[in-house]
Amino acid sequence: MAVKDKVTTVFLVLMASAVVSAYPPIVRVKPQQIHISYWSSPNQMMIMWSQTDRSKLSIVRYGINGKLTHEKRGNSTAFVDGGIWQRTQYMSTVLLDDLVPGQTYTYIVGNEYEFSDEHMFRAMRAGQNWSPRLAIYGDMGNVNARSLPRLEADAFAGMYDAVLHVGDMGYDMFEMDGKLGDEFMNQIEPLASQLPYMTCPGNHEERYNFSHYRHRFTMPGDEGKMYYSFNMGPVHFVSLSTEFFFFWYYGPMQIYQQYEWLKQDLKEAASPENRSKRPWIVVFGHRPMYCSSTGTDDCTKHESILRKGIPFLHMFGLEDVLYDHGVDLAIWAHEHSYERLWPVYDRKVMNGSYDAPYTNPRAPVQIITGSAGCRENVSGFIKDPADWSAFHSMDYGYTRMHVLNKTHMYLEQVSDVKNGQVIDKFTIIKTYHGPYDKTGKQRAPDLPEHVKKAAGIVSPQRKRQK
Ligand SMILES: *[C@@H]1O[C@H](CO)[C@@H](O)[C@H](O)[C@H]1NC(C)=O
Ligand SMILES: *[C@@H]1O[C@H](CO)[C@@H](O)[C@H](O)[C@H]1NC(C)=O
Ligand SMILES: *[C@@H]1O[C@H](CO)[C@@H](O)[C@H](O)[C@H]1NC(C)=O
Ligand SMILES: *[C@@H]1O[C@H](CO)[C@@H](O)[C@H](O)[C@H]1NC(C)=O
Ligand SMILES: *[C@@H]1O[C@H](CO)[C@@H](O)[C@H](O)[C@H]1NC(C)=O
Ligand SMILES: *[C@@H]1O[C@H](CO)[C@@H](O)[C@H](O)[C@H]1NC(C)=O
Ligand SMILES: [Fe+2]
Repeated sequence: MAVKDKVTTVFLVLMASAVVSAYPPIVRVKPQQIHISYWSSPNQMMIMWSQTDRSKLSIVRYGINGKLTHEKRGNSTAFVDGGIWQRTQYMSTVLLDDLVPGQTYTYIVGNEYEFSDEHMFRAMRAGQNWSPRLAIYGDMGNVNARSLPRLEADAFAGMYDAVLHVGDMGYDMFEMDGKLGDEFMNQIEPLASQLPYMTCPGNHEERYNFSHYRHRFTMPGDEGKMYYSFNMGPVHFVSLSTEFFFFWYYGPMQIYQQYEWLKQDLKEAASPENRSKRPWIVVFGHRPMYCSSTGTDDCTKHESILRKGIPFLHMFGLEDVLYDHGVDLAIWAHEHSYERLWPVYDRKVMNGSYDAPYTNPRAPVQIITGSAGCRENVSGFIKDPADWSAFHSMDYGYTRMHVLNKTHMYLEQVSDVKNGQVIDKFTIIKTYHGPYDKTGKQRAPDLPEHVKKAAGIVSPQRKRQK
């Protein structure tokens, strides 16, 4: 190359970089992944979304009759993925707290540069005398989200008030430096931007200490703990992390802390004034304590960890807690199938009566609904399920819940393989809601004080006295 050519090349390169830096960097603040969740009262709704770049403001404009008459501002926090590229995005949270219960709102979200398209939601109805309808499922994922089209169609037809996603979201949200999670969140946006999308963590959210789960979902009273409860009409819902038992190396204290919190929360929900107002108590978490699946999951074990607690010590098991507080229904997923159990306690069937097993059952009713998609195929069933197993299906699908009133709760299972056909339905009827063993003989063991002290646990009662 002649000297002149070299000089020309250098000159061109310098010019090119000068041109590039003469422009400000592109600002990428289009709101994405818009979703909502209930908060602590029917006047409130939490609105969340993500942006590639930081903006000064996080704004929601909203109002009734299609008019965006109100505005609220909130916060944006950087979420750094744990992968080698440390991909960063900005998560906005804006709490609307002046809603009229039961009212339908139109809203847009955005910042000082750009706003989203319009979305709509309905604020929670006030009081207890209404009939919540929910879509419930786990294990959906991105590449095989079988139930999503039908769920969206149902939602647009106004069939639900809210969604429970019982863990295992985007298989796995951390993959491709979190781009898979972004894709999943955008995929569920049509559903999750109109219906409160209430969640619990599953094993596929585990990576980087559940940081994708924690940053992408903001649940009422959760504050990153990954367990919380909320009230909806005549129901008290409790969301748990079953994953503390299996990813204990992220912090075994979380098992104790959740257990203590759960007992306290259920005690309060089951107090006479609360229970007469909101008689139904429904607990949901990702991994079941019973299942009839093939394979070696915890729920296939005679004494599963979820049911009986940590091995050998048998501490922090959930079955006694649910039984003692008269929990009406427990919902799990993780098994890629649907299974309905007869009322069961300690592996014994506790039918209300032989002819009407779900009328005043003598133990909690449990279902497993983990067949909304996933990329690992459906789970098979063993040939001879135990006698607590009432019905099972390997069809992809999801559950619909309709809490008719304080005595009747109806559930049905939809099959996506059979084009939306309802393949199972049952009604729990309770004229009495409360602890199952009225004699009080079978109590969940309380932790000895010295164990609590060693674990750094201050029991909630003591804390309150201070
Ligand atoms: C935003 O941050 C402020 C100050 O940290 C806090 O008081 C407020 O509750 C936050 N708002 C939301 C919607 O998270
Ligand atoms: C994981 O997160 C929890 C909750 O924030 C925290 O208590 C725990 O220390 C974390 N574990 C590790 C290993 O960072
Ligand atoms: C008990 O009732 C009070 C008053 O309605 C309510 O604020 C509280 O959240 C209830 N507690 C539970 C655990 O449901
Ligand atoms: C529970 O009820 C169902 C339905 O009637 C029945 O098939 C089952 O055998 C009952 N189980 C027991 C242990 O009574
Ligand atoms: C998925 O599981 C079903 C039932 O066990 C089986 O028939 C089918 O061949 C499996 N499909 C794939 C792709 O492995
Ligand atoms: C609750 O709903 C069931 C089923 O619709 C009905 O038979 C029952 O009378 C209702 N109970 C009350 C108290 O409204
Ligand atoms: Fe799972």
